[in-house]
Amino acid sequence: MENQQKSDNELAPIVSKLINIIVILLVFIIALIILLIVLVPKSTPKVEQKIEVPVPDKYGNFTEAAKQEALKIKDTTNYWMAPDIESLTGNNNKDLILYGKDLIAHTSEYFGENGKVFKSSTNGMNCQNCHLDAGTKIFGNNYSAVASTYPKFRARSGAIENIYKRVNDCFERSLNGTALDTNSKEMQGIVSYINWLGKDVEKGVKPIGSGFKDLAFLDRAADPEKGKLIYTDKCQSCHQSSGLGLMNSEKTAYTYPPLWGEHSYNDGAGLFRMSNFAKYVKYNMPLGASHNSPQLTDEEAWDVAAFANSQTRPHKDIKKDWPKIEEKPFDHPFGPYADGFDEKQHKFGPFKPIKDKLDALKKAKKSKV
Ligand code: HEC
Ligand code: HEC
Repeated sequence: MENQQKSDNELAPIVSKLINIIVILLVFIIALIILLIVLVPKSTPKVEQKIEVPVPDKYGNFTEAAKQEALKIKDTTNYWMAPDIESLTGNNNKDLILYGKDLIAHTSEYFGENGKVFKSSTNGMNCQNCHLDAGTKIFGNNYSAVASTYPKFRARSGAIENIYKRVNDCFERSLNGTALDTNSKEMQGIVSYINWLGKDVEKGVKPIGSGFKDLAFLDRAADPEKGKLIYTDKCQSCHQSSGLGLMNSEKTAYTYPPLWGEHSYNDGAGLFRMSNFAKYVKYNMPLGASHNSPQLTDEEAWDVAAFANSQTRPHKDIKKDWPKIEEKPFDHPFGPYADGFDEKQHKFGPFKPIKDKLDALKKAKKSKV
């Protein structure tokens, strides 16, 4: 009993010390928690993460995104540049050249419905609708290689063509109209202007940036159904849901040219070939796009080409075209063919197998000779 008492007495101070320590610890912990609550900054409320998606304006142009893209690409390529129109001062042909430029930019005012030269001798389109900036835009189907490469043999006609013939080809097909007299002031003006544009290009040379920029093939057929969705989304704000374009209020010219219908290019025209349409659109449309700020994917360009070139348009008798059928391009949509592929594949693709076959045929022919 006494022993028990003794040990109790010895334990008491230890227990009280322990309690003291525990109390101090508790106070310390509470103080720490209070400090943490006060000092640590409140975590910011959760915000929805913003992903930068380029937003098109009401015309379907991704202007800001396109600008940024253009800034990113430092293009040091030595592209062709049209001569400065100011440099015409003192040129004996100045008036004729300027007349030619105006005919190309405002063709409909001369040959459209109320044309000053001929009424309705064309569909009302302007050359410039397809040869952008009066035929000076890089990869906008410009005329930089015309003076230097014509006259030349063209497999479409199977003959040597001069510039007059080539210009009249576009009058009869792209403008679905009548050819001009070679000696007319209008034809002389157009050719003078085109020759002046290419005056600094060496004979036989195709400057960098001429014509169209190449576009990779799809490994599938182009799809008009998909193209229709792209058209609705990115083209019809200007070219209209009808595809027939929009005339200006004075009815003298198209503000937005037609992509099909009776005032569009006919089925013998260059743009009726899928590759030309797709290349033109990829690097020039929606309006404002360019070779270093394209706004469509390759697939979108091919699919929208398939859609537009599946609509109705004027027909041209082109039985005399391509006198040698083995020279027909891979995307010429009318048979007969030397390569064994059908009209449908020649129209929509996939084009690579056709192109490979045509190249092989050409090689075989060469080695025979
Ligand atoms: C609907 C579109 C369109 C219109 C409108 C048009 N063209 Fe063309 N033009 C083309 C296409 C596409 C080519 C290229 C065809 C090809 O390579 O198969 C071309 C080619 C040419 C070429 C040859 C270019 C070269 O480097 O070989 C000349 C010259 C030309 N056009 C002049 C004109 C003139 C002049 C007008 C107006 C009277 C005109 N074009 C109207 C689409 C058009
Ligand atoms: C902001 C308006 C606008 C949009 C959007 C637009 N275009 Fe165009 N397009 C034009 C104008 C304007 C021209 C004629 C350019 C000129 O004369 O300088 C043109 C010309 C064309 C041409 C050649 C001329 C013709 O009528 O055959 C084709 C083909 C074309 N556009 C296809 C398209 C396609 C396909 C789209 C959609 C991917 C598209 N465009 C979107 C305004 C637009």
